[in-house]
Amino acid sequence: MKKQYLSISKLLTIAAVLILLASCNRDNNYTGHAYFPDMAYSNAFETYASSPNFSDSVRMLLPVNGTIPRGKIPYQYAAKSFDEQQRAGRELVNPYQPSKEILERGQAEFNIYCAMCHGEQGMGDGHLFKSGLFPVQPTSLRTNYVQDKPDGEIFHVITQGSISGLMGSHGNQISEDDRWKIVTYVKNGFKVN
Ligand code: HEC
Repeated sequence: MKKQYLSISKLLTIAAVLILLASCNRDNNYTGHAYFPDMAYSNAFETYASSPNFSDSVRMLLPVNGTIPRGKIPYQYAAKSFDEQQRAGRELVNPYQPSKEILERGQAEFNIYCAMCHGEQGMGDGHLFKSGLFPVQPTSLRTNYVQDKPDGEIFHVITQGSISGLMGSHGNQISEDDRWKIVTYVKNGFKVN
């Protein structure tokens, strides 16, 4: 009678099945063996967690000093200096002529950002002052003192605030475009045509 030896191919098949079964793992969190695991699975650090890799141990690094956003030129005239305010008045040029569209936009922005202090007509009688919430009377923007200022000087005051600091800077709230439109509206005597 011929002996029933297992053939090589059967042995190999059984071995392969065993290896396959053995490689099944009940632990669903186990990702298996990996070649260079630290490259395959990079460490996800929390954005603001401390870091062993940088000397100040901050992970969310600040941009390099002097970095500026694309398409934006930093404002060149320092705050709280009369010389700088006047220099802005001499050098900055209002890109807009008073047209209905520009003035209406200027009026809308003025009413949002300035009217609560200076009043809708710029008389210095806005709600915050009249209700006593703001202690100082805001300058009337209808006076010659303001109306005779070059556009760039008013632009500067909006951007950096007043010299005393009583009026804060609006450079971060109002786009450069809209600041010029507000200036155009103020210098047009609060009229939209
Ligand atoms: C929180 C209240 C407040 C808001 C908001 C405000 N201002 Fe003023 N503004 C003042 C006060 C107060 C002064 C007087 C400040 C001073 O003498 O230092 C002033 C002064 C000014 C002056 C005269 C600056 C000078 O050289 O004497 C201009 C121009 C002006 N504001 C325009 C604006 C415009 C335009 C806006 C809106 C973008 C605005 N202000 C928003 C309170 C405000």
